[in-house]
Amino acid sequence: MIKNICCIGAGYVGGPTMAVIAKQCPEIKVTVVDVNQQRINAWNDADLNNLPVYEPGLADIVQEARGRNLFFSTEVDQAIDQADMIFISVNTPTKTYGIGKGKAADLKYIELCARQIARVAKTDKIIVEKSTLPVRTASAIRDILDNTGNKVKFQILSNPEFLAEGTAISDLLNPDRVLIGGNPETEEGQAAINVLTEIYARWVPENRILTTNVWSSELSKLTANAFLAQRVSSINAMSEICEKTGADIDEVAQAIGLDSRIGSKFLKASVGFGGSCFQKDILNLVYIASSYGLDQVADYWEQVIIMNDYQKSRFANNIITTLYNTISGKKIAFLGWAFKKDTNDTRESAAIYVADYLLNEQAELAVYDPKVSEQQVLTDLNYLNTRSEQENVNLISFNSCPYENCKDAHAIAVLTEWDEFKTYDWQRIYDNMLKPAFVFDGRNILNEKELTKIGFKYQGIGK
Ligand code: UDX
Ligand code: ADP
Repeated sequence: MIKNICCIGAGYVGGPTMAVIAKQCPEIKVTVVDVNQQRINAWNDADLNNLPVYEPGLADIVQEARGRNLFFSTEVDQAIDQADMIFISVNTPTKTYGIGKGKAADLKYIELCARQIARVAKTDKIIVEKSTLPVRTASAIRDILDNTGNKVKFQILSNPEFLAEGTAISDLLNPDRVLIGGNPETEEGQAAINVLTEIYARWVPENRILTTNVWSSELSKLTANAFLAQRVSSINAMSEICEKTGADIDEVAQAIGLDSRIGSKFLKASVGFGGSCFQKDILNLVYIASSYGLDQVADYWEQVIIMNDYQKSRFANNIITTLYNTISGKKIAFLGWAFKKDTNDTRESAAIYVADYLLNEQAELAVYDPKVSEQQVLTDLNYLNTRSEQENVNLISFNSCPYENCKDAHAIAVLTEWDEFKTYDWQRIYDNMLKPAFVFDGRNILNEKELTKIGFKYQGIGK
């Protein structure tokens, strides 16, 4: 019986996942640890609006379980020592240096975790990989753990996370499937699989809990994300054809989505996919394929990223050409900065790249997002290193009122599909803009007919 769970990494995956496990298993003590003190403080903040991760439904669960059986701490060693089961949920960004730069996943943080566990552990433990990892990472973790010399026995499981941000809590409470990769050939391996299965079985029907070998589990996660991203790039590729030919991408998506073999989900044309997973996982897949000499396979998947980058620059380019080929000194209002609605996460958001492109043309940007701070927007742009921090500050303004944000703008660009944008008084926005007033709807969420009637010049994706 598991009494103590520790999760290393209190980010977008570790935080919500552990909150849900703690909610569903009140007698298991769940401790989420992180080296980032500020993040842990935010998880412990009495004001639930200050949690570091915004997810619908998360605050209620934290309120229920925190202090009862859910704890957030920076005492990593202590939590490792006490745990029977340790989830590794640290970040695995794309490498920015050395071999595999720009493609391979950087396993530095994972290795550090494994070494820390090896150093601290005095009793047998089950280690669960939660982070997205290249295939065969488990064997590297095993190597490190098996050579500790202190005779502690570790079982290693792969349990990839399939939650999507913005719907993390409902995805966790009602997952399509839970995947557990392990080594059923040995008795201890099978026992570890059973223990993790029992935890999920508290709330997930057993027929949705799938067990595979470790490698299949690791590769399934990359494959799932690659397939999903590919759907977005595929529909985005068709969106340009629609724009040239007069077809409507939403109508095309609906028509093909009714084919049960294709299905209707994940067919929304957009300014491009973002988020911490899709690009990273595909690059990782490309790297794995290349390293086995599978060049055609690598090129095939790389095209998904190339299409996505093209969609972002195409969107920005379209703004420039429509605004009479010059946007220098023109105010362009951004609605949305997060990579999708209902999250405060901005990693790889299309907004960052579109903004960078427009700033290169000396546009003045005014940014509003209901959940993203001014500081985060500047951090995202400074990270690209295209221009000085001061230049970014000079060229970007922020307003917590969307109406003020759009005032005196030449154009509005919708980058995130936040529901609230649909409810705005668009007549009021129009009245306060420079004319002609343009809307570039990067998410196809606004009512084209209504906006055109008001007087806007509207352009959606694939319209
Ligand atoms: C994804 C996977 O869905 C999830 O299973 C995995 O665990 C992590 O990666 P996430 O990145 O959080 O989740 O969000 P997702 O809903 O997949 O959206 C990714 C990006 O694709 C967003 O920028 C979204 O706006 C975009 N998208 C999605 C589209 O442009 N069109 C669509 O039809 C769907
Ligand atoms: P994800 O979306 O995968 O959850 P995040 O970046 O949101 O990624 O979260 C990962 C967290 O892991 C970060 O808060 C980071 O500080 C933490 N982390 C990374 N390495 C370690 C480590 N060795 N020990 C503890 N926490 C770590």
